[in-house]
Amino acid sequence: MSLPQCKKVKITSSLEQLKALTIVVADTGDFQAMEQFKPIDATTNPSLILAAAGQKKYAHLLDKAVQYGKKVGSNLEEKTEAAIDMTCVLFGQEILNIIPGRVSTEVDARLSFDKERSIEKAKKLISLYEEAGINKERILIKLASTWEGIQAAKELEENYGIHCNLTLLFSFAQAVACAEAGVTLISPFVGRILDWYVSNTDKKSFEAADDPGVMSVTKIYNYYKKFNYKTVVMGASFRNIGEIHELAGCDLLTISPKLLEELEKSTSLVKKVLNKEAAEKCDLEKINLNEAEFRWLLNEDIMATDKLSDGIRKFAVDMRKLEELLKEKIQS
Ligand SMILES: *[C@@H]1O[C@H](CO)[C@@H](O)[C@H](O)[C@H]1NC(C)=O
Repeated sequence: MSLPQCKKVKITSSLEQLKALTIVVADTGDFQAMEQFKPIDATTNPSLILAAAGQKKYAHLLDKAVQYGKKVGSNLEEKTEAAIDMTCVLFGQEILNIIPGRVSTEVDARLSFDKERSIEKAKKLISLYEEAGINKERILIKLASTWEGIQAAKELEENYGIHCNLTLLFSFAQAVACAEAGVTLISPFVGRILDWYVSNTDKKSFEAADDPGVMSVTKIYNYYKKFNYKTVVMGASFRNIGEIHELAGCDLLTISPKLLEELEKSTSLVKKVLNKEAAEKCDLEKINLNEAEFRWLLNEDIMATDKLSDGIRKFAVDMRKLEELLKEKIQS
């Protein structure tokens, strides 16, 4: 009699298990970390550009943008605006040299309530990329999930085939409007929702499954899958790996290098929590939102209203700093 054969059990890390269920993207704007983690997609924004702009290594990009601004603008305002656009595109190109996928490029947050100017800005950014030989399939235009931002995205997707990433998304109403607008991708924030509940309510700690950020993304994911929306859900801004475990199965998750490392060291079992079968059984009903209904629902949600406004203000601060920096260079 032969002994039963013993199968070798390979212990896989939580990260490896997660990658079998969800596309995992390293959440970093740092060029060095990008080289290390090799994310598929990545993002740029004024804060990341400002941080890189201080380094000697990237000075030539700012110089190039300033030269461009001087050439195409007829006054200081125009020159500065053109230099900002070019700076965003040049940093986007640097990132595209490292990653195989798409880079998100942000529309100036100060246009968050101006649909027409958001559309114009997005088209401008895409045309600069195209002049540099980069196909628009590799770009996602990032817009804040205001009513105007979402409607701008709808037009960009429908009329120009420009793909959009809707950010600062904290509520179900924003997610529903994005799906109806047919946007390519939403990046709902998990951790920033948790932060709000911790600072603004008496409850100071949450189990991962009751984490308000997790619950928000779960509901959005279920709604999208149940009603077959093609908009892709990319969960973002995580505070702990418990939140990530609860959202395993989501289309994409963008995770900081620190939490990626924790997942790599852990061997806890990762279960597919989000999945289409469960979504189809959920009791969510389809809703349609016009502008008034959208604004009403968003306004009823104190957390989402606070976080959206706050997020726009913070993006605008860094945009202004970048603007000042470029303006000085144009004048000197
Ligand atoms: C979409 O934007 C978010 C920021 O809100 C960013 O973290 C994410 O990387 C972007 N997604 C892609 C695929 O570029």
